[in-house]
Amino acid sequence: MNLNKIRLGILASGNGSNADSIMSAFKDHPKIEVVCVLSNKKEAMVLEKAKVKKVNSFYVRKLKADSAEAYDQKLINILQEFEVDWVVCAGYMKLLTHFFLKTMNYKVLNIHPSLLPEFPGKNAYEDAFSAKVKRSGCTVHLVDEGIDSGRIISQKPIELKSEDTLESFKERGLAIENKFYPEVIEIFLLEECNDI
Ligand code: GRF
Repeated sequence: MNLNKIRLGILASGNGSNADSIMSAFKDHPKIEVVCVLSNKKEAMVLEKAKVKKVNSFYVRKLKADSAEAYDQKLINILQEFEVDWVVCAGYMKLLTHFFLKTMNYKVLNIHPSLLPEFPGKNAYEDAFSAKVKRSGCTVHLVDEGIDSGRIISQKPIELKSEDTLESFKERGLAIENKFYPEVIEIFLLEECNDI
């Protein structure tokens, strides 16, 4: 762990293609480092991907007795142990509490697969596809207490072709997300933390 770098902690629940591309992008980066990956899902593929990349990874279990804040405290304990500066959500399918955001000084990023404020929520690809829009996209934004409502940092359009199926649209969209997210993180954090 290099304290001169901006340290990222990734939160993810699933396959982890975005987490994987972020780990690759910052592997030997002079100023940004991924120090840990946390998942609320034991079987999440992202944990395997982190192991392959030799990034510390943790399944953080929610006990029945855990309140939302108590669970988020478990995440915070690990993030603080690794001295994480910025939290990067990458397919993290759980709402973060006000307590979490406040403790992390609202230094939390997310990618959402639509041109927000259009199609917020869990099924953005499906919703855009069903609405037969000609263009959707993805958005990197800061996280606040709402659902995909934080300040927008950058957006990228994704064209919906007439021959697209939901699967082909999602596949193309995810490939674009994977490239776009690390690029935006790098530009944003180097500007934001230009005193480092
Ligand atoms: C992505 O579409 C992301 O925008 C959304 O959840 C999906 C996660 O995919 N929030 P992956 O786990 O990064 O492959």
